[in-house]
Amino acid sequence: MNLKTILITGGAGFIGSHLVRLLVNKYPNYKIINLDKLTYAGNLANLTDVENAPNYEFVKGDIVDADFIHALFDKYQFDAVIHLAAESHVDRSIANPMEFIMTNIVGTANLLNAARSIWKTSNLQPPTSNLFYHVSTDEVYGSLGNEGMFKETTPYDPRSPYSASKASSDHLVRAYYHTFGLPIVISNCSNNYGSHQFPEKLIPLFIHNIKNNKSLPVYGKGENIRDWLWVEDHARAIDVLFHNAKIGETYNIGGHNEWKNIDLIKVICKVMDKKLGRTEGESEKLITYVTDRAGHDLRYAIDSTKLQHDLGWTPSLQFEEGIEKTIQWYLTNEEWLNNVTSGAYQHYYEKQYASR
Ligand code: NAD
Ligand code: TYD
Repeated sequence: MNLKTILITGGAGFIGSHLVRLLVNKYPNYKIINLDKLTYAGNLANLTDVENAPNYEFVKGDIVDADFIHALFDKYQFDAVIHLAAESHVDRSIANPMEFIMTNIVGTANLLNAARSIWKTSNLQPPTSNLFYHVSTDEVYGSLGNEGMFKETTPYDPRSPYSASKASSDHLVRAYYHTFGLPIVISNCSNNYGSHQFPEKLIPLFIHNIKNNKSLPVYGKGENIRDWLWVEDHARAIDVLFHNAKIGETYNIGGHNEWKNIDLIKVICKVMDKKLGRTEGESEKLITYVTDRAGHDLRYAIDSTKLQHDLGWTPSLQFEEGIEKTIQWYLTNEEWLNNVTSGAYQHYYEKQYASR
């Protein structure tokens, strides 16, 4: 593919910032445009190391605004899109589903319409240099019992407003492929962990709370199971798929790394005790069992054989090493943690863009 200008949506967020960094550094001949609304979850402090790169540009904007999106596509004539912008936290989707429906469903539809209007779909038969790559989640498949794994063919069965909104967006992306011939790829990934994740998600929240001697709210009995993948391995998988995936196909991405929440939390407590010089067992005393999340999916486990077998991707990092690195990052970057939790970054960047 001879790609030139690539739109990445949600590039200021957790996974998006890792992907932007990877692509800007690896492909100097690509122009990477990062479009992000800079909600509470996204901030440009995540990207200071690439902000002055000649092949990188940031645009502040909202994917829900159809006119703005059309004008943006008109201006830049993107060759390809990698779409990550989303509302991403299940608990927030329970408190306020409409934000999720607007950004995740309407926002995705706006991007699809804009791509369709600038890419002449009659010319989109392979080989084409255009691609709409949609980044999605394994949560669209619903909840597993003790056995089995999600495959690309597993029927969708989303159970939270978040996963239902992501499932809707996946359906729209696939529909634009079948109906209009838009060249698309979808990947569905398991839970990510690593640096720069907003501390409302389990791992950074608990690191932050342990550090500050605050309680660790474990939902239900802590028996729910998640499959954890290091975020930089997810970014690598997106890079591999972006360049090599078969148009119109879906690929699962996962770490083959299932953890019961309570066991994972105990590992975090143990590493934190060591790093903070506390006696073993001290951080575990902060564990507090609280009312379960409504509709809490019991287990996610992803079968990524297709990606591994067809395209040769494998996770690079063992979980023990990855969690240690992750904890160290949050401890070293205390200022980042404080600024995202207090909203200081959001306030700072809002003022910067309001004055333009
Ligand atoms: P995140 O919440 O950290 O980041 C989302 C980014 O999107 C933020 O920078 C935010 O400002 C931006 N955004 C939100 N609404 C927007 C809008 N209306 N217009 C423009 N930008 C907007 O999310 P994340 O964890 O990095 O997830 C990125 C993508 O990957 C999402 O699509 C998510 O569904 C998917 N995903 C996440 C995980 C995970 O474990 N975090 C796993 C699988 C898939
Ligand atoms: P989370 O990081 O919110 O990711 P997701 O819901 O997308 O899997 O939660 C991971 C698991 O941890 C999930 O089973 C819910 C649980 N959890 C808690 O027990 N306490 C918490 O405070 C949070 C945020 C999550």
